[in-house]
Amino acid sequence: MQNFDLTVVGAGAAGLFCAGIAGQLGLRVLLIDHADKLAEKIRISGGGRCNFTNREATPSNFLSENPNFCRSALARYTPKDFIELVQRHGIAFHEKHKGQLFCDHSSEQIIQMLVKECDAGGVERWQPCTVADLRQAAVGGFEIETSRGQVLSRRVVVATGGLSIPKIGASDWGLRLAQRFGHRIVEPRPALVPLTFAPEDWAPFAELAGLSLPVELSCGQGKAKGRFLEDLLFTHRGLSGPAILQISSFWTEGQDLQLDLAPETDLAAALRDLKANSRRHLGNELATLLPSRLAQAWIERLKLDASRPMPECKDKDLQTLADSLKRWTLKPNGSEGWRKAEVMRGGVDTRELSSQSLESQRVPGLHFIGEVVDVTGWLGGYNFQWAWASAAACARAA
Ligand code: FDA
Repeated sequence: MQNFDLTVVGAGAAGLFCAGIAGQLGLRVLLIDHADKLAEKIRISGGGRCNFTNREATPSNFLSENPNFCRSALARYTPKDFIELVQRHGIAFHEKHKGQLFCDHSSEQIIQMLVKECDAGGVERWQPCTVADLRQAAVGGFEIETSRGQVLSRRVVVATGGLSIPKIGASDWGLRLAQRFGHRIVEPRPALVPLTFAPEDWAPFAELAGLSLPVELSCGQGKAKGRFLEDLLFTHRGLSGPAILQISSFWTEGQDLQLDLAPETDLAAALRDLKANSRRHLGNELATLLPSRLAQAWIERLKLDASRPMPECKDKDLQTLADSLKRWTLKPNGSEGWRKAEVMRGGVDTRELSSQSLESQRVPGLHFIGEVVDVTGWLGGYNFQWAWASAAACARAA
């Protein structure tokens, strides 16, 4: 039986980072992962360039049933701390949009950086390696049965991530373990995911597939309300793009979405003005205010005449046109599910974890970090920032 101070199960973003810090603090650390390839989610993240943090991350960019839980860890390990680490490793990066930082070259650089940090801490890595059983040991700590032998570990960190993209190693192991030790699980749901519509509802819009435009999109009410000004993408089956991925984390079955397809424009006023000052056709003029494919589709949808000269358009029709574009309400019938979701919403209920150390209040010595915990970031580097911050809080406490 081999002895370790800390065994981390899951060598993704949070697990690698936690293991490296704990090792460098002098702990004897074992890091286990069942996948053949290391940190596949980091590799595919940010289109291969890893949006590794967001300069402007605050607790308000995270969803949880216990919204204040993430404050402590996020305050003690900030985007600036991670940026300094990236700079120390000589990784070039750039800001793309709204504080989102991406590698100039490849997400592989972030993986290599995390591996170097683990090596600097003398972390032992077993991969691929599966955990058959994990139980509290009579002598204190935990006995772990792995495919590479038995381990006795003073502490265990569960960093097995969320359920999205099962084909690259996602599993519900961490959630099942938490349940076995009496933890409540906030229902896991796919998030940051394209939304779909009933084929008959979507048929009139399917021809817009490929069209992208900035919109204001909202859903929900009160504290559960989400509102984003981002790009929307029409697809053959429904809607995608950053606006939809963001709102999908707030959306629940049966809810409507409200879209403003011309968020920067007072459309009714613009159309009234055109009626007074232009002799051109409605279709041509609307196409100066919106992408032309959308303008054409909307005129057809409302059964208006695109070739009618502006002065001959009825005020009522122009108002209806403006209202329907500014207040488009539609009801998704579902999402593209775990196969396409970037993250899991829900997870181990944080009300039974310490916000300082991410340690279970039920089982001393057992910690949960990263996406397996009920803390979900918006799109834009926030989920990695949570992985780094929760990992650092845990490693320093362990
Ligand atoms: P992560 O999923 O990274 O790691 C979990 C590890 O546990 C995996 O290596 C897995 O193999 C292992 N594991 C699971 N079950 C196990 C078991 N039973 N035994 C042993 N090992 C087990 N976020 C962001 O901030 N910026 C971005 O650009 C992106 N982009 C992005 C793109 C795509 C396509 C996806 C799917 C996701 C993103 N994300 C993202 C989200 C981000 O990747 C995610 O939130 C973090 O990787 C979560 O880190 P964790 O370490 O918690 O889980």
